[in-house]
Amino acid sequence: MVREIVTYPNEILQKPTERVDEIDDEVRQLIKDMFETMYSAEGVGLAANQVGVSLSIMVIDTTIKEDAPDIKLVLINPEIIKAEGKVRFKEGCLSFPGLSVEVERFERVQLKAIDEEGKERVYDLEGFPAIVFQHELDHLKGITFLDRLTAWRRRLALEKYRKLQREAQKV
Ligand code: NI
Repeated sequence: MVREIVTYPNEILQKPTERVDEIDDEVRQLIKDMFETMYSAEGVGLAANQVGVSLSIMVIDTTIKEDAPDIKLVLINPEIIKAEGKVRFKEGCLSFPGLSVEVERFERVQLKAIDEEGKERVYDLEGFPAIVFQHELDHLKGITFLDRLTAWRRRLALEKYRKLQREAQKV
């Protein structure tokens, strides 16, 4: 089932999510719905709080991005173990329709997370999938890409976003 995507400034996007203690049917359904919702919006990553559920779960699928490795992951309670390198990339976000901002991220990350079967796993990501992961991890911590900008650039981005929203309402 495709769920509604929460857009900024909804408060759920600005508070940290809860850790998942048990992977039950509800969580499995949520994960399935998150993939469907992400695909229908043509996104490459989605955090659970973006569909209004404040749990530490993200889905990633970079298959639609042509010049990037095809990585499909479900990450529950993810944490960064190691990170290195710096890269700047113009990111979009399904919770900020139409807005894209350039953000600095680590180039490579090693992370641990629980998979859908409840097993702890370690992943090494590099380049685009690593960027997507860090963007979604921020969501799970209640951080949006606006919080990664300097005050001046954040103000410009917010102005642009509000303008985009006003234009969308007129249609
Ligand atoms: Ni986002």
